[in-house]
Amino acid sequence: MLGSDIRCDAVLITGASSGIGAATAKHLCEKGYFVFAGVRQQQQADAVKKSVDHDANLLSVILDVTKEGDIFRATEFVNEILTEKGLRLAGLVNNAADENLGPVEVLPLEVFRRELEVGYLGAVAVTKAFLPRLRQASGRIINMSSVNGRCTFKYHATTCATKYAIEAFSDALRMEVRPWGMKVSIIEPGPTDTPLMREKTIEEFSQKLSQYPKEQLDLYFKDLDDTIKRAEMFVQRISAPPRGPLDKVRRILNGQGWLHSPLDVARVIEHALSSRRPKTRYLIGVQAKLIHVARRLLSDRAFDRFLGENVFDF
Ligand SMILES: NC(=O)c1ccc[n+]([C@@H]2O[C@H](COP(=O)([O-])OP(=O)(O)OC[C@H]3O[C@@H](n4cnc5c(N)ncnc54)[C@H](OP(=O)(O)O)[C@@H]3O)[C@@H](O)[C@H]2O)c1
Repeated sequence: MLGSDIRCDAVLITGASSGIGAATAKHLCEKGYFVFAGVRQQQQADAVKKSVDHDANLLSVILDVTKEGDIFRATEFVNEILTEKGLRLAGLVNNAADENLGPVEVLPLEVFRRELEVGYLGAVAVTKAFLPRLRQASGRIINMSSVNGRCTFKYHATTCATKYAIEAFSDALRMEVRPWGMKVSIIEPGPTDTPLMREKTIEEFSQKLSQYPKEQLDLYFKDLDDTIKRAEMFVQRISAPPRGPLDKVRRILNGQGWLHSPLDVARVIEHALSSRRPKTRYLIGVQAKLIHVARRLLSDRAFDRFLGENVFDF
């Protein structure tokens, strides 16, 4: 049974087990969408279902975006439910990502491959599978990029390359699906308060990086333990909410920044889904906007120096 306030629009979100994906699933349910929440494990499926108030409006789908079998089964399942409930697939949010940090020389090729496989090829595969159903509803495709899709940061080669690929894919797709009244939007958040920015950033430095050859790590980090401590302090600093507009200005000048709420991003995704004229790109947050402006105004070398002194200089 559908909830009484439900509209006829359904949305599929990949990577809905945590962070922005989970917040978006919850927010869209509250706004009356029927949500298919893509997760990788049954345990996560149960947790997502429990987390929403309007639980009649959400179904979890096991969907590892790198697995063809999962994508095929998810397509069958979603099509069946849409038909059964008389819903249209109004949107697809390609949100899943597996981000990694580290110097190019140190990260194994497999890490680059894996990240592209999840964040880029996964989005392409899921989009291809659901395009026929989305077309029937002149649906929207919303791809999660990042400020990392606009400019590149040190130790972010895998992530930035994946997001640049998502940007190019989205631009081509936007032009291709226009004849059916379909729209494609790219979401570009700045730093957001999710496990990716908190636990996973620390884990990258403390556990993952330390397993790579010491002689390579020594080339980039004078003292890895000290780097880990600084990464922890950085995450702690940006996790503290700003104490007002002045504090925001101070933090911008110090290059410290702060984390946005995942709900802010979810609201932007809702706009991209529902607005008559959705933007092609949504750059979210003053920090992302400032970095973008700096990138456009400065030369490559001047921008490198600007970042070195301000952002992610572990
Ligand atoms: N947080 C930020 O500051 C920020 C800023 C800009 C852009 N973004 C983008 O926002 C999106 C969501 O990130 P987040 O911050 O919410 O991070 P998150 O909490 O780590 O969420 C990532 C999601 O992707 C899922 N995932 C990983 N590998 C997958 C696979 N093979 N198949 C399907 N799902 C998979 C994860 O599932 P498991 O739980 O099963 O691992 C998780 O649900 C990402 O595209 C990220 O690049 C984040």
